[in-house]
Amino acid sequence: MKKTLLDPQKKYPMVMPDGTEIKTVVHLNQVIDHPQIEIGDFSYFGHFEVLEDYASFLAPYLFPLSPEKLVIGKFCQIAHGVRIITSSANHNMNGFSTFPFNNFMMTPETSAKEIEAMFQVPGRKGNTHIGNDVWIGMEAIIMPGVTIGDGAIIGARSVVVKDVEPYTIVGGNPAKAIKKRFSEETIEKLLELKWWNWDVEKIEQNLEAILNSDIKKLYNIRL
Ligand SMILES: CC(C)(COP(=O)(O)OP(=O)(O)OC[C@H]1O[C@@H](n2cnc3c(N)ncnc32)[C@H](O)[C@@H]1OP(=O)(O)O)[C@@H](O)C(=O)NCCC(=O)NCCS
Repeated sequence: MKKTLLDPQKKYPMVMPDGTEIKTVVHLNQVIDHPQIEIGDFSYFGHFEVLEDYASFLAPYLFPLSPEKLVIGKFCQIAHGVRIITSSANHNMNGFSTFPFNNFMMTPETSAKEIEAMFQVPGRKGNTHIGNDVWIGMEAIIMPGVTIGDGAIIGARSVVVKDVEPYTIVGGNPAKAIKKRFSEETIEKLLELKWWNWDVEKIEQNLEAILNSDIKKLYNIRL
């Protein structure tokens, strides 16, 4: 196969012409190995500090024994300070106190099963799904159980509490739709094309069409 410049296995995908790797931009699936997190190729996190543990920054309440999953597609662009709050972040709100007493009463005899049971609080929101080619602006917060569609854009400092439709720009707290990026007809074609699943070689050869907005041109090179 022909050598491509895009390489999903690079930890630091941004390399300057002199060979300097920009260490504050990381391919997330090269730095996160967590049983509850799935991340597609090329999705990156551009965070101003180099972190020791990317999983616990990005999804601080997602523990290896948590029941929910965080699924992030391919080619997502995640800006500085973004946090994804998953379902295990929520305390039980049905009793008189929300204090998580059990968390502070573990002993060496406490089993993994008992820890798992601690996460079974009522009203759990389930998995978080972030599609492909989603751009999440600086310091946005994604709340539990949300699904963000392919090609969506999340404005800086937004708090996303509800699902976001594909190719929709949202912003604010709570995040609301600002506008659709393209016509319904174009969005339908983009969702059919799923260019992010093409071979890397084909993506590199067709960057002009991917980075412009002529749907006929992109559609014609699909095969
Ligand atoms: C969301 C965003 C993409 C919108 O860009 P745009 O389409 O050029 O939007 P505009 O500036 O024309 O604003 C359109 C509307 O959205 C609102 N808006 C823009 N950004 C917003 C945000 N982050 N939160 C809430 N509302 C926002 C504007 O106030 C405006 O509202 P109005 O129509 O009521 O006047 C952009 O503002 C943004 O937040 N980009 C993220 C940048 C970033 O974090 N980069 C990190 C490095 S990758």
